[in-house]
Amino acid sequence: MKTGFNKDFLWGGAISCSQADGGFLDGGKGISTQDLRYLDPSWNREQVEEKHHKCPFSKAEFEQALKDMDVTYYPNRRGIDFYHQYKQDIDLFHKMGMKIFRTSICWSRIFPNGDDLMPNQEGLNYYKDMFAECHKKGIKVFATILHYDIPVNLVLKYGGWKNRQTIQFYVHYAETLFKELGDLVDYWLPFNEFNAGRFAPWDGVCLIQDEEENMNQAIFQCLHHQLIANAMTVKLCHEMLPGVMIGGMIARFETYPATCRPEDALQALQDEQYGNWFYTDVMVRGEYPQYMERYFDMFDIHINMDIKDSEILKSGLVDFLSFSYYFSQVSTSDQTWEKTAGNLIMANKNPYLNTSEWGWQMDPIGLRVTLNKMYDRYRLPLMIAENGLGTTDVLESDGTVHDSYRIDYLKSHITQMKEAVIDGVDIIGYTMWGIIDIVSCGPLTIDKRYGVIYVDLDNGGQGSGKRYCKDSFYWYQKCIKSNGKEL
Ligand code: BG6
Repeated sequence: MKTGFNKDFLWGGAISCSQADGGFLDGGKGISTQDLRYLDPSWNREQVEEKHHKCPFSKAEFEQALKDMDVTYYPNRRGIDFYHQYKQDIDLFHKMGMKIFRTSICWSRIFPNGDDLMPNQEGLNYYKDMFAECHKKGIKVFATILHYDIPVNLVLKYGGWKNRQTIQFYVHYAETLFKELGDLVDYWLPFNEFNAGRFAPWDGVCLIQDEEENMNQAIFQCLHHQLIANAMTVKLCHEMLPGVMIGGMIARFETYPATCRPEDALQALQDEQYGNWFYTDVMVRGEYPQYMERYFDMFDIHINMDIKDSEILKSGLVDFLSFSYYFSQVSTSDQTWEKTAGNLIMANKNPYLNTSEWGWQMDPIGLRVTLNKMYDRYRLPLMIAENGLGTTDVLESDGTVHDSYRIDYLKSHITQMKEAVIDGVDIIGYTMWGIIDIVSCGPLTIDKRYGVIYVDLDNGGQGSGKRYCKDSFYWYQKCIKSNGKEL
């Protein structure tokens, strides 16, 4: 029996380019779909939430954002200026003892319009330098090829993921990355959270609300194209970079039947199939699972498939699975069940769990359950690509941040991850989400802070931008140094 983490366990941290980089149009970058998301810094929490749940946005909002080149109302255009400050940030990651850093590559930095024939050399150089800096500091690189931000030109000119041509553009982009950055990336991830498209269509599959007559149909057509692009990319990676691991990822929604009523057990099974297993089943097994036929029928979804698609799906099977894990929920057939917020979805409330400041239900044991379920089903190595607590923090006048609540969150989740290792689950790494404060993805505010490193900026981008180590920084440093023994 195992008693703890392997000695080469990958302790790390994660961010995404659109939430951290800034440098909106620097270095020849084109406009991305995430650059168009709007936040008025004077909005209160309720207004922000209301906006958040209106994703995807309307055609009018999309067109207005395209005309507006300002950065004030578009937090993703500013991020935390990681683009210019990455050296000092990676220095802090090194000081913390981090073994791996997960970030995403910005497609529109490499191909500003998405359909360009030649890549933008300045964009490639940025990643070459940044990844080399990580290696210089002994930190491995876990690169997400696409984390929600496609070049906006692909949406304007081709309709984005609805159009099969986008697959070719994406594969060309991935091929360029393998060729140019292949020796600097240790783990590849073609898509962030595959299931996001179903719950946050603008983020996941770049669909505009009032342009779709049958949103469900459009979503699953886009997802099909992404699954094909994923398989082609995995195959290409295996051919171009033999021995390098490339994985799949979902936002993992752990769910329990709300009661022992058989109806609730059935609902839990279906929530699991449609919300989680569908995506990983295709990426691991290379074919659509049987249970989706009934789902497609129910929602009048007819996916346009090419004759070669089933062959393509089988030809690119992922080497490992990763997932984000923030909360769990319950499944019920009772439509009146109380709801609370969750990552990408509104969740059914579990009376046995406490919620975070943003209403997400904290459930460390759910992480152990998830790890066991995923490993039982697929027997593939697992990587926790995201896990963390988004909450407000107070920067004291002496530059300290006393975030004992974040330490409690991390401690309880890492304890359960360790239990899963003892259960026999093969876990290769843990990249804590939002290792440094960044723009949050849903609300677009920075006051929903995840980092163990505080960034002195407010929701309007005002502040010194200086970095401060929170108490959780020193706690995580100790955890890493002791390889998870001192929690
Ligand atoms: C995941 C995304 O869904 O959740 C991240 O991959 C995101 O981009 C994270 O930041 C947390 O969500 P939020 O809305 O609190 O930032």
